[in-house]
Amino acid sequence: MASRMVVTVSSNKGGCGKTTTAVHLAAGLANAGHQVLLADLDKQGHCATFLGRDPAPRLYDLLVKERPLAELIVEARPRLHLLAGNSESLVAQDFARLRNAQADLLERAIVEKAIGYDYVVFDTPPQGLLQECAIYSADVLITPAPVDYPGMDGAAQFVLLAQRIQERERLPAPRLFVLPMFVDRRTSEARYNLEALQERFGEWVLEAVPVRTRMREAIAEGETIFDYAPGDDIADIYTGLCRTIAALRTDAAHSDAAQSDAAQSDAACTEGKG
Ligand SMILES: Nc1ncnc2c1ncn2[C@@H]1O[C@H](COP(=O)(O)OP(=O)(O)OP(=O)(O)O)[C@@H](O)[C@H]1O
Ligand SMILES: [Mg+2]
Repeated sequence: MASRMVVTVSSNKGGCGKTTTAVHLAAGLANAGHQVLLADLDKQGHCATFLGRDPAPRLYDLLVKERPLAELIVEARPRLHLLAGNSESLVAQDFARLRNAQADLLERAIVEKAIGYDYVVFDTPPQGLLQECAIYSADVLITPAPVDYPGMDGAAQFVLLAQRIQERERLPAPRLFVLPMFVDRRTSEARYNLEALQERFGEWVLEAVPVRTRMREAIAEGETIFDYAPGDDIADIYTGLCRTIAALRTDAAHSDAAQSDAAQSDAACTEGKG
């Protein structure tokens, strides 16, 4: 299997479903048997509250106090490990900026240290250094987009930001997905906007997440939809999203194995010739 995959859930838009998606992606992958580290980069600390935990200055402890990552993580659900944040995360970001932190800040502080994890999932704020660093580290980017004009504009702006970082840092392009959010298919406006999103972003568009009161209720209770209403259609849609991401990791593993086989056979040919 490929080494750990980094999935960054991000947008320049507030309130578009970043934390809901990051938490459900992390929880769904953990339910499927994977070891997952969910890192909250936002000052609101909502990854913790959405999982029924208290926000805590763990990102601050990591970046400012330089405490070891393993000491700062709690297992919020079986196999789902949380690096929590709170308002101090903003101080940590200012501190990093003053120290001239580069785009690889989170790569070095979290990704490289996340030994034994299959996935690292970043939930980001809608702007700033920590968001840019999480984009830099991503193998996969997911941008949640409410299906209205500001939501679609937000997705377009996020794609430009990701491309700018990729070009500036000379990175290979990460896989990018747009996740339509809060869709009410009973309205013609939602159906029309969903089509417009599909026309604009094509195969990058994932299965739409419907608007559901149950999701708000689950979040208010500090539960995931998998715990609160496992039979709900929204639970199935997030499970499908997890399968899509897990399949990418499996594909990456196969292509790594094929490359390594090719390299070994090249080496054997060279030895044979010598
Ligand atoms: N499928 C859904 N149906 C209805 N409400 C939802 C759904 N998913 C999430 N919500 C609600 O939408 C709101 C915004 O979600 P969320 O906090 O995930 O967005 P965010 O992008 O992380 O926001 P912020 O920019 O403040 O970090 C929350 O109140 C959440 O309960
Ligand atoms: Mg959030």
